[in-house]
Amino acid sequence: MGKLVICDHPLIQHKLTFIRDKNTITKDFRELVGEVATLMAYEITREAPLEHTTIETPVAEMESAVLSGRMIGLVPILRAGLGMVDGILQLIPSAKVGHIGLYRNEETLQPVEYYINLPTDAQERMLIVIDPMLATGGSANAALSALKKRGCTHLKLMVLIAAPEGVEAVRSAHPDVDLYVAALDERLNEHGYIVPGLGDAGDRLFGTK
Ligand code: URA
Repeated sequence: MGKLVICDHPLIQHKLTFIRDKNTITKDFRELVGEVATLMAYEITREAPLEHTTIETPVAEMESAVLSGRMIGLVPILRAGLGMVDGILQLIPSAKVGHIGLYRNEETLQPVEYYINLPTDAQERMLIVIDPMLATGGSANAALSALKKRGCTHLKLMVLIAAPEGVEAVRSAHPDVDLYVAALDERLNEHGYIVPGLGDAGDRLFGTK
């Protein structure tokens, strides 16, 4: 079973409080989401493989560590996932960025893929699927399935706030995927919003509505 990591560093908890607050303005919301994404990127890369290379310091030759092995790709789910990309790139500037777009079929209520664009070497990368909110898990599961269908096997999911229903759905459909969340909230309400959550992440990021 993949890991469920709650990234509850005090800095993340502090910033999340202001992200959740309905009085936080769009500019601050966007900046704070980016900052939490950076901090979560630190956690998600904790086990990134290293290799050694020989360098010379001004004093001596030494073997020193550099990142190796599988490189990293980011796959934000449109549109709210975009709000976390720059924050992660601050820490992993060489990551390639793919995109996946999903809409909800109003009859079946199932997510339908309308856009996907991945790095050409996506199959060789560790891909981090990004979405601020994990509500029912429908979009995350569809995104993970879309990546697996294209041969991507090393997948992680990064979300800011998760509902227990979403965590359960992802872990049962994709037990191989590690899940990183900044907060695990109480439940979903009858409109599909996470409680207490933060409202609509896309609208708050982009100032719509
Ligand atoms: N998507 C959001 O943006 N917010 C929620 O609470 C649930 C899904």
